[in-house]
Amino acid sequence: MWRLRRGGGGNVAVLRRRSVKMAGFFFTSAHIMTQDELKQAVARAAIDYVVDGEIIGVGTGSTANFFIDELAKIKDRIKGTVASSEATAARLRGHGIPVFDLNDVEAIAVYIDGADEITEQGAMIKGGGAALTREKIVASVSQQFVCIADGSKLVPTLGTFPLPVEVIPMARAVVMRKLAALGGQPRLRTKPGSDEAFITDNGGEIIDVAGMQIADPVALETEINGIVGVIAVGLFARSGADVCLLGMADGVKTLTF
Ligand code: 5RP
Repeated sequence: MWRLRRGGGGNVAVLRRRSVKMAGFFFTSAHIMTQDELKQAVARAAIDYVVDGEIIGVGTGSTANFFIDELAKIKDRIKGTVASSEATAARLRGHGIPVFDLNDVEAIAVYIDGADEITEQGAMIKGGGAALTREKIVASVSQQFVCIADGSKLVPTLGTFPLPVEVIPMARAVVMRKLAALGGQPRLRTKPGSDEAFITDNGGEIIDVAGMQIADPVALETEINGIVGVIAVGLFARSGADVCLLGMADGVKTLTF
């Protein structure tokens, strides 16, 4: 008998039809795929982009966590990793995967990470998990950026997801005024269930900017980078993804940019 199966979490995402042959008949059933199952599917597909004997850059977030779990299965094939956050480093080490300090590494073959939004051109908003600065640094050293995301992350225009900007804490107010002048509604990210500012791995704070319809992501990235006190902006447009593996109802779709 067919049963509808739900994944461990995430929103119900899509229906996938499955067929099985029993006693000479085909039975078809709709399978409800959760967002987590779509993330798992792209994490598995990303293993094809891992380069044997090399160092792999690893992103942060729930999709990246699924990738880490897949990478653990082939850990003997790689030299090691560079992590984009303390949380990712801890998960990698928990699996017995070597984690190198970026200062000891000259080249990274591929960087694999999720995104909060991605366009058909490969521009992304990242930083929902507060790791945008280290993600940008590790990505900048990597020969290829492979974005892994469930299909809900593909958007025509960036900006529905509030744009994260990491700032030096003493510059918080002045940067927020400048972001408001650009047309956004800046808000300081706080610790869950608290009014205290969330502090990143770098000792910075995050301002999430809502209400930006980002028609020209390259220009906006350049403009926000130029605000004194900004550590990094979660726009990855001047250097975006090279490949995106998108989890869809009918399988993993590959976009190349
Ligand atoms: C973390 C990120 C993540 O890649 C982004 O937030 C997507 O997360 P998830 O895979 O959990 O949806 O940029 O800073």
